[in-house]
Order: sequence, then structure tokens, then C-alpha cells
Amino acid sequence: MKVMAFNGSPRKKKWNTVTLLNNALQGAHSTGAEIELVQLYDLKFSGCISCFSCKRLSRKKDGVCSVQDDLTPVLDRVKQADALIIGSPVYYGAESAATRAFLERLCFPYLKYSKGGRSLFPRRINTAMIYTMNAPDQILQRIGYDRMFAMTQMTLGMHFGACELLLSSDTLQYSDYDKYEAEAFDKNAKRQRHTKVFPDDCKRAFALGVRMASGKVTDPMPMPWQES
Ligand SMILES: Cc1cc2nc3c(=O)[nH]c(=O)nc-3n(C[C@H](O)[C@H](O)[C@H](O)COP(=O)(O)O)c2cc1C
Repeated sequence: MKVMAFNGSPRKKKWNTVTLLNNALQGAHSTGAEIELVQLYDLKFSGCISCFSCKRLSRKKDGVCSVQDDLTPVLDRVKQADALIIGSPVYYGAESAATRAFLERLCFPYLKYSKGGRSLFPRRINTAMIYTMNAPDQILQRIGYDRMFAMTQMTLGMHFGACELLLSSDTLQYSDYDKYEAEAFDKNAKRQRHTKVFPDDCKRAFALGVRMASGKVTDPMPMPWQES
């Protein structure tokens, strides 16, 4: 059992997203799974360049992306993974740029344009998205984040297998709010939430990691143009 996690935050060491990912990986490791954390911001890579090489009729349909960059060996290792956990901060109501680029390169080569075609990924595996964000729970639906989360959940669900969602909201953005412009935020409330609620988010991430490594996999979702 191999569980791979991907940190889509440029803050690589101790911040929100990577902390949750590390908890998820510890959960997976506690069941005996092999684990790997990929720091997306350590890699030089682009999103899909729309070359359509992966859709060429003359080419073997193996889900391999023709673009050669730092992501190439990572995508190669994904082929052996039994679960994928992707963590991203929310930037302007979407995943971070590196996470978006990664998702494009991860998914598109496996997408079948043939009638009735399922994903080219050879197995069904568990996937999860972990999002961290400044916005508090109460406003997520009103500002449309639920649709953004659902879209990525669907994308991973179609290509690999059912996608779990873990949301960590109202996160701590600075270690010292007095040193940065932050009048819009209640720094005491932020700090309090970080000490009271974030540890629960970490526990939820640990439990998610255990589930990801359980080997129990729900069927991937059908492509939108297929009958369910
Ligand atoms: C460029 C940028 C854009 C952001 N946009 C949003 C946003 O649209 N909504 C939100 O809730 N938080 C936003 N945030 C806050 C981050 O999502 C939040 O602080 C997150 O927990 C950071 O994750 P990290 O600590 O792992 O880096 C933004 C932060 C940055 C740096």
C-alpha cells in the first residue's frame, strides 16, 4: 500500500496545508502504508500545454504525459500509488497555481475521449483533497467555494476513484499578526481558533489518512458523458 501526498502550498515546512498533509500521512503510515510527500513548489513544471499527444490515435494509450519536466518522475510514481492526497490553500477562490497545474497534468492523460471510455488509470484508488483557507465555514457556500470543491472532487473521482474532501477554514495566516497588515481580521480569534479548532482538523486529517490506506475503494465516477 503506497500513499502519496502533494503539498500545493509554497509554505513547505510548518504551515496549515503541509501540517494537515503530514497528519494524513502519519495516519496512513500507522496502518503500515508506505508514504511519500511531494512538495509541488520544489519542482519546476508547467500545467497541461494542450499538445494532445496523449489523445493521438497513433500513440499507445498509457496515460503518460509527453511533457518532460520535474513532474515527469512524480507522475511515473503515481502509477504505483494506492491513494493520492492533494493539499492546497485556497487562492482567490481556487486551488493554488501549482496545484491547478499538477491536477491538469495528473488527470488529462488518463481522460478518455472515446465513447463509453473509462479512465485510463489502470486501477481504482482512493483520493482526497485537503483545502485550507482564510474564509470561515459560514460563508463558504455563499461565496461559491462549495462548487469549486465539488468540481475538483468530481475530476479526481472520474479519473481515479472516490474523492474525500477535508476543509480547514479560518486558518492562521501569520505567526504574528502585529507585524503585517491584518486589520480586517480579529487576531485573537484567529489565534484561538488555531489552538482550539486546528488540532481537531489535524485529527480529522489523521483519520482520513487511515481511511485512504484502508484499501476500501469506491468506484470512480463515470465521465459526464456516460450513463451512471
Ligand atoms: C495569494 C493568496 C490568495 C489567497 N486567497 C484566498 C481566498 O481566496 N480565500 C481564502 O479563504 N483564503 C485565501 N488565502 C489565504 C490562504 O488560503 C490561507 O491562509 C491558507 O490556509 C494558507 O495555507 P498555508 O498556511 O498552507 O500556506 C490566500 C492567500 C494567498 C497568499
